[in-house]
Amino acid sequence: MEFIVLLVVFLPSLFLVEALTKPLFINCGCNSSITVEGRQWVGDSSPGQSFTLSSVGVAAAAAASTIAEDPIYQTARIFNTSTSFDFTVPHGNYFIRLHFRPFDFGSFDANGSSFDLLANDLKLLSKFNAPGEIGWKNARSNSNASSLLKEYSLCVNLTQLRIEFVPELGSFAFVNALELIPAVDELLFPSSSGIETMYRLNVGGREIKPSEDGALWRKWNSDEQFMFSVNAAYNISNTSTVTYSSPINDTAVFAPLLVYETARTMTDNQVVERRFNVSWRFDVDPNFDYLIRLHFSELVYDKPNQRIFRIYINNKTAAENFDVFVRAGGKNKAYHQDYVEAISPKVDSLWVQLGPNSLSSGSGADALLNGVEIFKLSRNGILAHAHPRISAAQGNKIAQKPKNKTLWPAAAAAAAVGLVGIASLLYVGLLHRLKKTPPAKKSPPGSTKNAAAIKSSLSSNKNRVGRRFSVAEIKIATRNFDEELVIGAGGFGKVYRGEINEGVTVAIKRANRQSEQGVREFETEIEMLSKLRHRHLASMIGFCDEQGEMVLVYEYMANGTLRSHLLGGDRPALTWRQRVEACIGAARGLHYLHTGAERAIIHRDVKSTNILLDENFMAKVADFGLSKDGPAVDRTHVSTAVKGSFGYLDPEYFRRQQLTEKSDVYSFGVVLLEVVCARPVIDPSLPREQISLAEWALQQPSAEQIVDQRLKEEEGFSPESVARFVEIAEKCLADEGKRRPTMGEVLWLLENVS
Ligand SMILES: *[C@@H]1O[C@H](CO)[C@@H](O)[C@H](O)[C@H]1NC(C)=O
Ligand SMILES: *[C@@H]1O[C@H](CO)[C@@H](O)[C@H](O)[C@H]1NC(C)=O
Ligand SMILES: *[C@@H]1O[C@H](CO)[C@@H](O)[C@H](O)[C@H]1NC(C)=O
Ligand SMILES: *[C@@H]1O[C@H](CO)[C@@H](O)[C@H](O)[C@H]1NC(C)=O
Ligand SMILES: *[C@@H]1O[C@H](CO)[C@@H](O)[C@H](O)[C@H]1NC(C)=O
Ligand SMILES: *[C@@H]1O[C@H](CO)[C@@H](O)[C@H](O)[C@H]1NC(C)=O
Ligand SMILES: *[C@@H]1O[C@H](CO)[C@@H](O)[C@H](O)[C@H]1NC(C)=O
Ligand SMILES: *[C@@H]1O[C@H](CO)[C@@H](O)[C@H](O)[C@H]1NC(C)=O
Ligand SMILES: *[C@@H]1O[C@H](CO)[C@@H](O)[C@H](O)[C@H]1NC(C)=O
Ligand SMILES: *[C@@H]1O[C@H](CO)[C@@H](O)[C@H](O)[C@H]1NC(C)=O
Repeated sequence: MEFIVLLVVFLPSLFLVEALTKPLFINCGCNSSITVEGRQWVGDSSPGQSFTLSSVGVAAAAAASTIAEDPIYQTARIFNTSTSFDFTVPHGNYFIRLHFRPFDFGSFDANGSSFDLLANDLKLLSKFNAPGEIGWKNARSNSNASSLLKEYSLCVNLTQLRIEFVPELGSFAFVNALELIPAVDELLFPSSSGIETMYRLNVGGREIKPSEDGALWRKWNSDEQFMFSVNAAYNISNTSTVTYSSPINDTAVFAPLLVYETARTMTDNQVVERRFNVSWRFDVDPNFDYLIRLHFSELVYDKPNQRIFRIYINNKTAAENFDVFVRAGGKNKAYHQDYVEAISPKVDSLWVQLGPNSLSSGSGADALLNGVEIFKLSRNGILAHAHPRISAAQGNKIAQKPKNKTLWPAAAAAAAVGLVGIASLLYVGLLHRLKKTPPAKKSPPGSTKNAAAIKSSLSSNKNRVGRRFSVAEIKIATRNFDEELVIGAGGFGKVYRGEINEGVTVAIKRANRQSEQGVREFETEIEMLSKLRHRHLASMIGFCDEQGEMVLVYEYMANGTLRSHLLGGDRPALTWRQRVEACIGAARGLHYLHTGAERAIIHRDVKSTNILLDENFMAKVADFGLSKDGPAVDRTHVSTAVKGSFGYLDPEYFRRQQLTEKSDVYSFGVVLLEVVCARPVIDPSLPREQISLAEWALQQPSAEQIVDQRLKEEEGFSPESVARFVEIAEKCLADEGKRRPTMGEVLWLLENVS
């Protein structure tokens, strides 16, 4: 049962207070001190404080134990008139941190709160609504946070600091906790009147708690959710060996050593070609300047020239020939570098990318980053920027944001469908499998109608076709998910062979409930399959979504995956004719995806394990878990986070972060080579230049060199036919999407291979 304690506190008006020289932690709405993880928080209404509060507020306390997080969130102070906290401080730089954790404030509705916040003359917040801001952030980062921390830093050149809450007429302000931290010296921010911390990340490592950051009590988050493709980078660490390089330029003021002890480098070795940048994307407020502080420490090499790279900020080269070893003056030495970037009024993202110094430098290319901070710099005394309000509940569901309003109407809902977990099939021994998936970074464009339709189908099921199975039926069909019936597994969960209606064999895909990826892919797949019916697309018979089970029932494809007939050995190899026919079938399926629906659909994960063969070896394209609606007619691409499987990934998609149907064409080209060569698309056991099938095959002088031995031995083997087939693959693999054929053209060419 929830209840609320309201007490009106009468504070002593002004009395002389001591100048602040130590960090001050204030727990608002509370009359006693508590100590949490090494910090003592004084109640704002406990006696003898070192600050004054200019007016009586209302203290609110959440019902005991309703707030699971930090105990400082248990209380808040509410102001329905302008109120200031006044501090007497020595001249210097200060961090101001404000904690907002709305709860049931009784007669005040937190959802209706709206206020401005000022620190001396600097405007920090304008018409701020904490629940709406939390919802907005959750929607952008696909999270479900219930609190918000805002951090500012400013230089106080008077002897007084006044933090003033100014409620909008008829509304009110609230705050749960407030921190004021003297920032030791001016090293931290040499020359700016006001700064807001947007991001503070420990790259390649865990979250660092305030209690692990010395006198400044900063929190460093993990960088993973900001990575454009986690798989493009590899995390390394070397603990307890890093030191600060010079007493002046790099000290704990900038970052704790923990930040420097972990890093991301370009994906280790050879599996993924190093022509890919390692990229991070951040949402920022338009029309401000940003200070980007990058933290580095070389953790592996003990001489210069081992890792030389280029840094890009918003597509512009920020540094070339960057050698951390040289700049830091050795191995395991902390070093940081600042950049300033002006963000124009139409831009709301900031990209930090590390790339090879020059494409020709080949295998020597590598890069490294240990930490990143992004600070917004005030403009004309203002730091405030209002985001659209999204309720926290809505935020969780949408898991995306409406992008640029004029270009992307109602895109948020459409994004919920497109937002899917990463399904890259990685070679686990070589690449780190990371548990969390990065969120899709941008919303696809969508017509309002389309977005609304998708949204309603997500929340109701109205658009779902096919039979609805009960959990009991599914359990009978799979003998209670008997492990012996498992015929496949992936990021989404497991696939079972099952029997329904006395003897009809089906494939039953059961989403792993623990995996958010599973849930999203399940929704996407139902959505896609409900829209699509085609002979060459695996068809869905029905689904089951009761009692927390999410199950899809498909027609059973007796001959399994195309890959199992090329490699693996447990199934007979296909003849040349069968291989060509299978490719034609798959091409028909993909052509239909690209052109058959009102809006093109991009499969995004075309590979030989997603092409299934029925009892007559007819091919069908399966697995729409990653699929995405294609660009609207007036646009040529969909911007999105990289999803898909290595070895099949379109390099242009990786480079430009733009998804088109031509990305499927590229992946299909890799499948064609697989069909000819019958070798894995990535084989890490081979010498570097042979690891990637696409790279290797295209460098061979003729098709003769790469063709599967079993085909050569086939009666009536036609080298001409194989050569024509390889030519088609080559066309599909053109570096630039616009030079690749369409799926329709590929189909026509394949039909003429004979
Ligand atoms: C402090 O607040 C609690 C309720 O939160 C109240 O019971 C207690 O009497 C207060 N103590 C003082 C000294 O005001
Ligand atoms: C502010 O809130 C207090 C307590 O609920 C109330 O007595 C007072 O009238 C309010 N003042 C304004 C200006 O709304
Ligand atoms: C704010 O509104 C949401 C619904 O939009 C509701 O779930 C939530 O309880 C409200 N929060 C408060 C503190 O009243
Ligand atoms: C957020 O969601 C996770 C699981 O998705 C859950 O464990 C956690 O308790 C949730 N946090 C809050 C504050 O609701
Ligand atoms: C304090 O700083 C503000 C701007 O940051 C400036 O306008 C003002 O002149 C400064 N005052 C003193 C006493 O230096
Ligand atoms: C890399 O990150 C993962 C997950 O974030 C972690 O489990 C692993 O220990 C890290 N590896 C290193 C070398 O730090
Ligand atoms: C500190 O950094 C400045 C510029 O960033 C540079 O000029 C100076 O040489 C550095 N000092 C030391 C001791 O590294
Ligand atoms: C970490 O650094 C120390 C000191 O330079 C070195 O001996 C050790 O090999 C490094 N460890 C790794 C994993 O690179
Ligand atoms: C890396 O990113 C920069 C800036 O966005 C871009 O110009 C460059 O082509 C990219 N390099 C690679 C190898 O993708
Ligand atoms: C950087 O390049 C990407 C991809 O080409 C583009 O989407 C983005 O808008 C560019 N950013 C800026 C600031 O130009």
